[in-house]
Amino acid sequence: MYFGVDYHPEQWVHPYGGTKESPEAAWERDVELMQTAGINVVRMGEFTWGLCESEEGKYDFAWLNRVMDLLGKAGIKVVLATPTAAPPIWLAQKHPEILPVDDRGLVKHEGTRRAVCLNSDVFWSYCKRIVENMAKVLGKHPQLIAWQIDNGLGGNFTEASFNEDTRRDWHGWLEAKYETVERLNELMGLRHWGQVVTSWNQVPMPMAAPAVHNPALVLDWCRFCSDTIVQFVKMQADLLHELTPQCPVTTNLRPLVHRFDHFDLAEVLDFVSIESSGVLKAKSAELACDIDMLRSLKKSDIRAPDGDTGFWVIEQKAGNVTWQDVNSLVRPGVLRMFTYQLLSRGATAILFFRWRQPRFGTEKFHGAVLPHNAQPNGRVFKEVAQLGDEMKLLAPSLKGTHVQSDACILYSHDNEWALQQPMQPNKFFNLREHIQLFYNALHDRNLAVDFARPAEDLSRYKLVIAPSLHLLSGGEADRLKLYVQNGGTLVATFNTGLVDEHNIAPDTGYPHDLTDLFGLEVVEFDQLPQGEENHLTFKGTFPTTHLHPARLWCDLIEPKDCQVLATYAKDFYAGRPAMTMHNFGLGKAIYIGTQSHQPFYADLVTWLRQMCDLHPLLKVPENVEVSMRQKDDTKVFFLLNHQNAPLRIQFYKPMHDFLTGNTFSGNYDLPPHGVLVLDEHPEPTE
Ligand code: GAL
Repeated sequence: MYFGVDYHPEQWVHPYGGTKESPEAAWERDVELMQTAGINVVRMGEFTWGLCESEEGKYDFAWLNRVMDLLGKAGIKVVLATPTAAPPIWLAQKHPEILPVDDRGLVKHEGTRRAVCLNSDVFWSYCKRIVENMAKVLGKHPQLIAWQIDNGLGGNFTEASFNEDTRRDWHGWLEAKYETVERLNELMGLRHWGQVVTSWNQVPMPMAAPAVHNPALVLDWCRFCSDTIVQFVKMQADLLHELTPQCPVTTNLRPLVHRFDHFDLAEVLDFVSIESSGVLKAKSAELACDIDMLRSLKKSDIRAPDGDTGFWVIEQKAGNVTWQDVNSLVRPGVLRMFTYQLLSRGATAILFFRWRQPRFGTEKFHGAVLPHNAQPNGRVFKEVAQLGDEMKLLAPSLKGTHVQSDACILYSHDNEWALQQPMQPNKFFNLREHIQLFYNALHDRNLAVDFARPAEDLSRYKLVIAPSLHLLSGGEADRLKLYVQNGGTLVATFNTGLVDEHNIAPDTGYPHDLTDLFGLEVVEFDQLPQGEENHLTFKGTFPTTHLHPARLWCDLIEPKDCQVLATYAKDFYAGRPAMTMHNFGLGKAIYIGTQSHQPFYADLVTWLRQMCDLHPLLKVPENVEVSMRQKDDTKVFFLLNHQNAPLRIQFYKPMHDFLTGNTFSGNYDLPPHGVLVLDEHPEPTE
């Protein structure tokens, strides 16, 4: 199992380390300390283009080679990042056309990172050259085990640029998609405001304009920008696969943050990696949701360096960051606990960002394993070194284990992009918040969840939740029907099937293509201002622990042959259905026409658990998060105490504690932010 750090050796040469005579001497001490902390891998190189090619065509990778040799002596492996996230200043000055233009036509200038237009041919050819040269010189180094392509794609709001090269590619992309201009006019609905075009190059990029751009055009623009990023990564992946076929490729992702299709991107990578700021989020369920989403991006064809098929955590923040208004310290034990959260949800490698707190630059006060004074007696170093020891202990038992989920939440980037546009029925609807209500309820019961695109094969799941698939293609709708037809339980909600893949509303009733699946038609949808609410009145066996409100959005449902589970309590639609269920084929299609508060989703999960035969992993008090990794008969349980106080857990069977080697049963007091890694101990045989 790999355990390591993100290392920036370029920042630790004389006068910031070493001596005049031996300017790189600090690296030796770094490597020694890394060994003390149990580190066996580093990632490096991600912003070093300006150092590796300080003048055009004058390459110097020798220093990286020297670092790799040194690491090799200590048995530490290397993931090299291609340095394309930070083009050198000479390149921008020689070819200012590579600098990105924003939606107001203003150039974003050189001097930082990510100042590029990913549609620029010039930029692509320089990238190919640096990547090729780097791979040729360092690609056969015995320490190299993988490549990270670029860094932080989409970060610093760089998902789109509005350059002339972009315009050219945009038009080419549209032509490939629509084939004729007539078809484009028709499917984009450009008759609205008479925005019809007569040639490809008349189609605008959605730059700042007095009114809102056509939503179908903006949706295609998001898809095009996403394809641009994916193609840019694929270009590098193809090159690297050709030159260093033994090395898998990855990149650092922040799912649900950056605006490109992460599922598409995962297809061109050999394994996915997450950038986690876990330690900074108060809510463990939000973090868990990010991790589960990342794990779900690539469910097959995974090729990671250790032959395992999990995901990597390539930037686990080792402490405070510098990009919040107030950058508080991470409390003792919290880094360790959130690192276990990543492991418990399927991570097969952990690398901390970063090895040492830099003495210069924008991130000089960013937390790190070592502080400015580089003394290895600090709190964070000790916590990381403890984790290093623990990883060695756990690695054999975790090898080949995976998270297995019976429940799945559907998510598509197309849908998110359609929803992000202005002029929605309700600007206060937020997809992530809506998803999180379901996710929290499942998480609170310690039920494992995957994410999937609606078009995936869903047959492995007992329960599928489809929160607000506002945009739903005909193919996706068919998949959902197939899933239920074959015995699955599907829960969908309001704001589903309001448009098709072209962002066009149906004239056959909402949710489009699914009225037969749910046995109903949504005929109108009311929007409730913030602070106002309706209420739900339940019929039948749905277990209610509270009075449940209807908030934000109320679908007016015309039931056909569905069963009504709840109705609205007031307003002109009092008594009309708010929640329904329909038997379809061998399965059940449940529809919830409104958004409620968190306790409703807890009740919903109680009800669904029985219906779908979902079992929580262990019985534990609130605030203890439980996850499990398994392989054949081996089940490894992780218990995390998210509370800053001890929590008593009762074990009814003898449990084996991997970290201490002890076996115990009965009461166990899990310390504040404490962690247990357990398996069920077989009963003694005598
Ligand atoms: C990441 C980025 C790193 C560093 C870090 C700071 O997004 O990849 O280079 O800037 O944020 O927290």
